[in-house]
Amino acid sequence: MSPAAPPLLRVEGLTVRYGALTALKDMSWQVSAGEILGIIGPNGAGKSSCFAAVTHAVPRLGDVWLAGERVTDLPTFRLARLGLRRTFQQNAFFGELSILENAMAAILREHSTSLSRSILLPWREAATRQAAERAAAELLTSFGIEAADHAKRPADIAYGTQRLLSVVLAYGAGAQALLIDEPAAGTGGPDMQRLADLLVELRRRRVAVVVIEHHMDLIMAVADRIVVIEQGRKLAEGTPADIQRNEAVLEAYLGRAA
Ligand SMILES: Nc1ncnc2c1ncn2[C@@H]1O[C@H](COP(=O)(O)OP(=O)(O)OP(=O)(O)O)[C@@H](O)[C@H]1O
Ligand SMILES: [Mg+2]
Repeated sequence: MSPAAPPLLRVEGLTVRYGALTALKDMSWQVSAGEILGIIGPNGAGKSSCFAAVTHAVPRLGDVWLAGERVTDLPTFRLARLGLRRTFQQNAFFGELSILENAMAAILREHSTSLSRSILLPWREAATRQAAERAAAELLTSFGIEAADHAKRPADIAYGTQRLLSVVLAYGAGAQALLIDEPAAGTGGPDMQRLADLLVELRRRRVAVVVIEHHMDLIMAVADRIVVIEQGRKLAEGTPADIQRNEAVLEAYLGRAA
C-alpha cells in the first residue's frame, strides 16, 4: 500500500453522549483499503460506541468520510449500501435459514435489483438462485466455513464458526469498510487462528478492516495500526510494536490486562 493512498474511511471528531455520559470524545482515525486497524481499550471505554457513531446508529457529533465523500448525514442503511458495514459483539443470523441460505440472503441483498427483475421473470429465477447458491457456497468455503456446515442452521455449528460467519455475511453483503466488534469474543484456541486468517484474507481482498478485540495476541498479530481508547478518548495510536511499549497504554490497559 502506498503511503499516499487516501483513506477509504476517515472519521473526525466523533463524540457520543448518552444523557449525561460522554461515551466517546473527539475520536479521529482513518483506515485504507487493504489495511487492518485495531481498536483496543478497557471494558466500557467507548469502542462499540465508536462503531455505532461511525455507522450513524446513534446521534453523534463529528464527521465521517467514505471513499472521499462526506457521508456524515447519511442514515445507517445508506452507509451499508455504500459498503460501510458493522458486525456486532452478539451474533445475528436468520435462525430458521441454513448457513448457505444466510449467505445467499447476504449476497442477494446486495443484488436486490437483479433479484426483483428475476421475480418479474419467474423463468429466470432458477438461474439466479443457482448462481446465488454457487456464489454463497464459494464465499463460505473461501473464508473457512466448510461445505459440511452449509446445510446446518447457525445454532447447530460450533460457536467459533458462528463468529466467523457473522463477519463473512457482512463481507458477502458488500462491505468495503468493515467494522468488526470482538470477533473472538467467547472463543479460544484454534478459533483464534481461523479468525486471524479471515481478517488477513479480508485485507488481501482490499477491504478496509477495523477490528475491536480484547485478545491481544490476535490484534497484535494482524493489525497494521492500533488505536487505544480509554474513557472515550484516544489514548495512543501506532503500530503494534509502538503500542506494546507505550507507557500510557501499559499503565492504563495492557499492564492491567497482563
Ligand atoms: N445505549 C446506551 N445507553 C447508555 N449508555 C450506554 C449505551 N451504550 C453504552 N453505554 C455506556 O457507554 C460507555 C461505553 O460503552 P461501550 O459499549 O461503547 O464500551 P466498549 O468499549 O465497547 O466496552 P466493552 O469492551 O465492554 O464492549 C459505557 O459506560 C456504557 O455503559
Ligand atoms: Mg463493546
